[in-house]
Amino acid sequence: MNALESRPLRTLVFDDRGDADRSVAREIAELVRAKPTAVLGLATGNTPVGVYAELARMHRDEALDFSGVVTFNLDEYLDLSPGDPRAFRRWMQARFFDHVNVRCENARFPECDAARAPSDPIAGRPIERFADACERYERAIRSAGGIDVLILGIGRNGHIGFNEPGSTRGSRTRIVELEATTRADAAHVFGDLENVPRRAITMGIATILESRAIRAMAFGRIKAPIVSRTLAEPISPALPATFLREHADATLYLDRDAAAEIAR
Ligand code: PGA
Repeated sequence: MNALESRPLRTLVFDDRGDADRSVAREIAELVRAKPTAVLGLATGNTPVGVYAELARMHRDEALDFSGVVTFNLDEYLDLSPGDPRAFRRWMQARFFDHVNVRCENARFPECDAARAPSDPIAGRPIERFADACERYERAIRSAGGIDVLILGIGRNGHIGFNEPGSTRGSRTRIVELEATTRADAAHVFGDLENVPRRAITMGIATILESRAIRAMAFGRIKAPIVSRTLAEPISPALPATFLREHADATLYLDRDAAAEIAR
């Protein structure tokens, strides 16, 4: 084990998930108040919903102002039709953007549909045809000044964003094939497994680790095994969440259930 591999990930365990949500939201609010043009990296999924709800409450009750904030979402499904209600863009709209004052043009998503036209169907389009869109997303993040704080969930298989096991430390925004566990976890959204997209566009591991701060969260008993492995196993593409241990300002927020299998 080298020095990097032995670096622990700062881990906070909360009795109540709501306290973890509020703690992350408070930190984001402090950042936004100190830097009204803050750049946020955002995740979808069950994990961050409480943070978005709390930020929306702060916007409503405490005049937290997002009008100068720029956001970059981590990932998006591919091969959905434009405007599909299950797209992450729509999910973010309903859970967050409809309740705060982030400007529409400042809410950025991987531009997988940028060049979409009736004559250019996205379904089945070869991966090389997305290279421009991927590079554009990387450039957009850089020209916004980089991500100040990135909110992150951890998948049951250890993915971060849609960086499935096998994703390398140097990976960038790209098209990926989704693993069986990832698709199974999304089946309830799509009615059944067959309807879950097989491909997605995601920020890479290198993109994620360039964020100045990372606030990762995991809640519930179902996440206990992957949380304990993330903290204990060697840093490697086999378990992408282990790369968080290489970051100088990453914190993992857990509830008691998610922390239940951490080795003492
Ligand atoms: P979840 O997903 O928040 O729905 O548990 C986390 C992830 O897959 O990144």
